[in-house]
Amino acid sequence: MHILITGGTGFIGQALVAQLLGGGHHITILSRGRHRDTSQCTYVRSLEELSSDSAPDAVVNLAGASLAGRRWTRAYKEEIAASRVEATRALVDYFESSAQTPRVLLSGSAIGFYGAHGDEALTEEAAAGRGFASELCQAWESEALRAEALGVRTCLLRLGVVLDREGGALRQMAMPFRFGVASWPGTGHQYLSWVHRADVVAAITLLLEDDSLAGAFNITAPGPVTQRDFCAAMQKHFRTLPAMPVPGTVMRLMLGEMAEELLLTGQRVVPAALEGAGFTFRYPGIEQALAAIFTTHAGERLP
Ligand SMILES: NC(=O)c1ccc[n+]([C@@H]2O[C@H](COP(=O)([O-])OP(=O)(O)OC[C@H]3O[C@@H](n4cnc5c(N)ncnc54)[C@H](OP(=O)(O)O)[C@@H]3O)[C@@H](O)[C@H]2O)c1
Repeated sequence: MHILITGGTGFIGQALVAQLLGGGHHITILSRGRHRDTSQCTYVRSLEELSSDSAPDAVVNLAGASLAGRRWTRAYKEEIAASRVEATRALVDYFESSAQTPRVLLSGSAIGFYGAHGDEALTEEAAAGRGFASELCQAWESEALRAEALGVRTCLLRLGVVLDREGGALRQMAMPFRFGVASWPGTGHQYLSWVHRADVVAAITLLLEDDSLAGAFNITAPGPVTQRDFCAAMQKHFRTLPAMPVPGTVMRLMLGEMAEELLLTGQRVVPAALEGAGFTFRYPGIEQALAAIFTTHAGERLP
């Protein structure tokens, strides 16, 4: 299959590309940077560079400026939105203008779609929430869903917090633990719906291959945890002082609106649609996932 991936250079994209190349697919990556092509992987900097005689069979849309990377100033919020909503609009506009549309579009989204929630388990049937992240996801999904009218099978990837060793949110989350400081944000009773990157790659592969699957998919492990439980699970891998909270007021002062939406509130998301499709998680629980991330095959703790 010829697969176009936007954001193929990112944390999820790199692992996905490695897996798909191993499966013998040809990959085209849409990237702002300059990269060297290989026999199986081609880079383009704009959709116009895609040649009409090699239209992609499938598209995975993962590009976007990081939500957790910087304080949400008005200018940065515009960049976050443009890199997702406008980029997805451009992608579907490109499908409309091409002679040959892809068979499938898998388009990024996030569990932020559901907004702040308490303990209620949220399946894909749950309503959209409020706030910047939720409204962003709704606009991002709406642009992707325009592809359905063109006969493109469309799946929305409602990603949880993706964990793995070489980057993503865990790099920042683990930092204080490495210095012996264990903490949780605010009350710590808010849920963290996480997923191991290997399961994200496996879920995306399933959604690419199974023509019967379409619509929204929560890509989160079946065992979401509270921030306190996540802290306790992390403490098993680091020598730390007794855990304590970082008060919400401090976090709001340091990080502004982003602290409220991404850290001090949460959502307990369950992967109902993926499990309904028969998907089996390699890392269903946080203890297993962190053990795989922080220990070597020989059972030694990573530094
Ligand atoms: N990782 C998570 O925990 C998580 C959770 C929920 C949702 N998601 C969503 O899943 C997608 C992939 O996540 P990821 O962690 O792999 O992201 P990532 O590592 O930050 O990579 C995203 C890619 O998007 C491109 N990009 C970055 N800033 C951009 C900008 N201002 N304009 C256009 N393109 C830009 C970059 O590619 P180039 O530099 O090659 O252009 C980058 O490699 C993102 O849309 C993210 O919102 C991720």
